[in-house]
Amino acid sequence: MKKSFFLALSLLAAATATAKPHREAFVDSLMASMTIEERVGQLNLASSWGFRSALSVGSEAESRAQIASGQMGALYGFKNVEEMRRLQQIAVSSGKHGIPFLFGMDVIHGVETTFPIPLALSCSWNPKLIEESARVAGGEATALGIDWVFSPMVDICRDARWGRIAEGAGEDPYLGAQMARAYIRGYRAAGLNACVKHFALYGAAEAGRDYNTVSMSRQEALNGFMAPYKAAVEAGAGSVMTSFNDFEEIPATCNPWLVDTLLRKQWGFGGFVVTDANAIKETIAHGMGDLQQCSARALQAGVDMDMNSNGFVGTLLASLGEGKVSEREINRACRRVLLAKYDAGLFADPYRRLGGSGRVFTAETRAFARRAARQSQVLLKNNGVLPLRKDAKILLVGPMADRADDMLGCWNITSHKAEAVTLRQGMQNAAPHNIIYREGSWLVADSLLEKTLRTSLLGFLDPNYKPEAVHQRPLQAMIDEAVAAAADADVIVAAVGESNSMNGEGASRADITIPGPQRQLLRALKATGKPVVLALFTGRPLALDWEDANLDAILCLWALGDQGGAAAADVLYGDANPQGRLTTSWPQAVGQCPLYYNHKSTGRPWPDDAPYQKFTSCYIDVPNGPLYPFGYGLSYTEFKYGDIADSDTTLAADSPLTLTLPVTNTGKRGGVATVQLYIHAVTSSSTRPVKELKAFKQVAIAAGETAKVSFTLTQDDLRHYNHDLRLVCEPGMYEIHIGSNSRDTQKIAIHAL
Ligand code: NOJ
Repeated sequence: MKKSFFLALSLLAAATATAKPHREAFVDSLMASMTIEERVGQLNLASSWGFRSALSVGSEAESRAQIASGQMGALYGFKNVEEMRRLQQIAVSSGKHGIPFLFGMDVIHGVETTFPIPLALSCSWNPKLIEESARVAGGEATALGIDWVFSPMVDICRDARWGRIAEGAGEDPYLGAQMARAYIRGYRAAGLNACVKHFALYGAAEAGRDYNTVSMSRQEALNGFMAPYKAAVEAGAGSVMTSFNDFEEIPATCNPWLVDTLLRKQWGFGGFVVTDANAIKETIAHGMGDLQQCSARALQAGVDMDMNSNGFVGTLLASLGEGKVSEREINRACRRVLLAKYDAGLFADPYRRLGGSGRVFTAETRAFARRAARQSQVLLKNNGVLPLRKDAKILLVGPMADRADDMLGCWNITSHKAEAVTLRQGMQNAAPHNIIYREGSWLVADSLLEKTLRTSLLGFLDPNYKPEAVHQRPLQAMIDEAVAAAADADVIVAAVGESNSMNGEGASRADITIPGPQRQLLRALKATGKPVVLALFTGRPLALDWEDANLDAILCLWALGDQGGAAAADVLYGDANPQGRLTTSWPQAVGQCPLYYNHKSTGRPWPDDAPYQKFTSCYIDVPNGPLYPFGYGLSYTEFKYGDIADSDTTLAADSPLTLTLPVTNTGKRGGVATVQLYIHAVTSSSTRPVKELKAFKQVAIAAGETAKVSFTLTQDDLRHYNHDLRLVCEPGMYEIHIGSNSRDTQKIAIHAL
């Protein structure tokens, strides 16, 4: 501690003697007295000891040696403040300068208090809620000594097969940008450096297979995928993480166009760029050369910090000696890392977040988690069976009905599992004595695979992990038991779908239906003749054609976090009115993937719901449209959208256009309408999406009341990146669609001058 204090004092004097802002002058004078080894050391990031897998290189002993010799700039994944203090003491007392560590952590959906998975949160269409989730999670992170969060994940994804769709905000770049900004605001309010990831286009992995190749043009990337990253940068993200995939035949981690040209030069990003875990080493498998070549390429592309590869710390000095990288390139990276440490306040006080005094998992944070979980649920179908009556006898059945880890979702390393409210507990608290519970079925048919899909992330990181058969009873016996119990029930609630390990990282699926044994259970339940409510656990859109056609109601619960069971009961029993709206299109069949509402027309367009017609762009066996469209969701009331009021229909550069329409709550209880505005360029210099979200408004409307909802458009809302990659508003005809989702809209034509 002492050394850093004196360092700060002496550098302060140096800094104030120059005209530069203090932070820059401070870092310049610090760097002037650092050896090249120390500067390279700042570029090295390693994970905590418990957070290593077969993929991550370097033993604990190796990392400890690097820490002791000043060859480590930052650490991540630690959750023990005492240990972090000890490590910080080593950092500040080693070498001449004693430069403190920056401590990072993955914050995907909460820290100790666990919120709904990000895809679920995005269905709130409520940036304020997202901001608050980041502020609350950020507060818990700082209480645990964290300076830097690996969040938000803003990858746009159009393919539900990709497991990490669970971690983002869905398929739309406009909505994704709103959410990205909200996350950054929340983390900044908590005083954190937020690391936006994964730059770039990771969500466009071919065929939805994780880590796979990305193939698209720059124009498509800019129009369809980049807005959330850019928004996060503009909102003040302090760092950016490169992605595992390639783009234009070059891995993102060493891609100069992405990192240097787009991110830094065009968007003006001034923070530091870190790789994803082991990503430099993985560029060897991409065919970029050996570790030394790959590390040099990453540095030259503009990467500043190497996560887990030991590539920078292990090879940059040799590359410098051989003239393959320059000292200027190393200094540039080191400077950005040190500036981030300065901004984190670590030179002023390396222990400022290591006091161990912050409060976590409090009554307030849990109350927030429950509120967020209510707003994240999406009611996909309801023939009137929902909301349930509290005096109704319910058979709650299914492999997800009473499991804490399935409430917690795909990232639950820091969660309070023992205190998580399962669906069974939530329903029993709401309607004591009226819940009959049966497990009902296996998760999946393969007993070995079921063990794997029931294993937490940390379980996988355990080197002794072994798959083993876990099915204890015959499936038919479990189903028969459930069917027998249904005789005493008025309504069946089936908690089925994906376990928490069936989505998230490394969890792609080729068949995104409900797994076989669970569907078998659903069919048997349907055959009882009792009403069946599907309480759906999932981290991705699923293909629910049979369920939609046969079951009485479908409520998408996603993975709602540690208060999920309580929040689900709130909605199932009608104490809360569901208001979530999908942020992804849900396919009718997996063969439609990638499926997204903002697709192009093609030269042979065919209506979404029309049957097969040869020589049009369609399938023989499934209509083109989704089962549930982007923006869709029901509630326990209904909204009627009136006509768009007559208005001027010319949009000039200097005069915005306002469109107004009445929305009436025609049901019997108050609810929240999410009014959505889409545009379509009728003619353009490039092919353009059939619809693009450009604005939305959420309005709470009491039963029987009408709200007037207005949108003001400017020419900026009509812009797109043209073939020369310039952002332009082209004059001509545009359709403006307004409605309750991307399918059910009314339209007017306007003319942009
Ligand atoms: C790999 C993941 O892709 C990334 O999202 C995460 O931040 C890092 N591992 C560190 O855990």
